[in-house]
Amino acid sequence: MTHLLSIEELSKERIWKIIDKAVSLKTERKQGPHEELPLQGQTWALMFSKSSTRTRVSFEVGIRELGGSVMFLSSNDIQLGRGEPIKDTARVLGRMVHGTIIRTFDQQDVIDFAHFSGIPTINALTDDAHPCQILADLLTIRERLGTWEGKKVAFVGDGFNNMSRSWMWAAKELGFEFTIAAPQGCLPTEKYIERLNAPNVSITTDPIEAVKDADVINTDVWLSMGEEGQTAKEALFKDYQVNSELLKHAHSAHIVLHCLPAYRGKEITNEVLEAHADTIFQQAENRLHAQKAVLCRLAAHGQTFRGMFS
Ligand code: CP
Ligand code: NVA
Repeated sequence: MTHLLSIEELSKERIWKIIDKAVSLKTERKQGPHEELPLQGQTWALMFSKSSTRTRVSFEVGIRELGGSVMFLSSNDIQLGRGEPIKDTARVLGRMVHGTIIRTFDQQDVIDFAHFSGIPTINALTDDAHPCQILADLLTIRERLGTWEGKKVAFVGDGFNNMSRSWMWAAKELGFEFTIAAPQGCLPTEKYIERLNAPNVSITTDPIEAVKDADVINTDVWLSMGEEGQTAKEALFKDYQVNSELLKHAHSAHIVLHCLPAYRGKEITNEVLEAHADTIFQQAENRLHAQKAVLCRLAAHGQTFRGMFS
């Protein structure tokens, strides 16, 4: 594993290994600073074109805890924001830092950066994918329910955003039952479902059908970053709120997940969020542990970065 560009490219075995490592790093951290520091001597860059609280903080802390140095580059402050091409930015950073974590719009930019930089590249969210979040979500399911195997997972909200897409690929690889409930126009396209080719993934416009007997109920914002002001799209979701009425249809021992930030009164009620806050903020904390596990895997590739030898 040289990069983490999407969950789609991870095998079942790889996902299991990352989650196992995250569990052991989380346990270790409770006992004090880590003894092994795989990022010692390395400098990693965070290059973000969208806002972030959890992702930025968890990566900055995680890199430091693993012995590395970190720099935050907002696209507004670097030449990328003034139109310098990603492939040029990549060839510069690839000669100076050991790895880069990117939050941006177009998935192709992350792919191009990985290609042109030659250094480990992690997708910290694009319009298509949020692999770091899904790893933290899986860790949370394992901690709360013991396993995702045999569980029924529902996603209510935008059925074709970065989170619902990432969930579909995780479900395909790991085999749990996964159902998306979204309004027409916000469901995965037929072409996408065909490419996914996962009989355990289903889609519906009926939130009750999706949530029926579900062990895990997920939601996410109705309008993702970059879609601000799309009131017509937002209006489509009025019947897709995770509220206590909807949760009556879930399994009695269900958990609720939200990647955050949450908009109370829209995709989730304040009542449900607060009732499930322990799980949801555990999920947020798990970003740190899951990403450290990914960084440990990529650390060895960071050491061989091209810049040092060119
Ligand atoms: N869930 C998540 O990625 O949060 P941030 O946007 O705050 O990083
Ligand atoms: N779908 C959301 C996820 C935020 C973590 C967005 O892209 O804004």
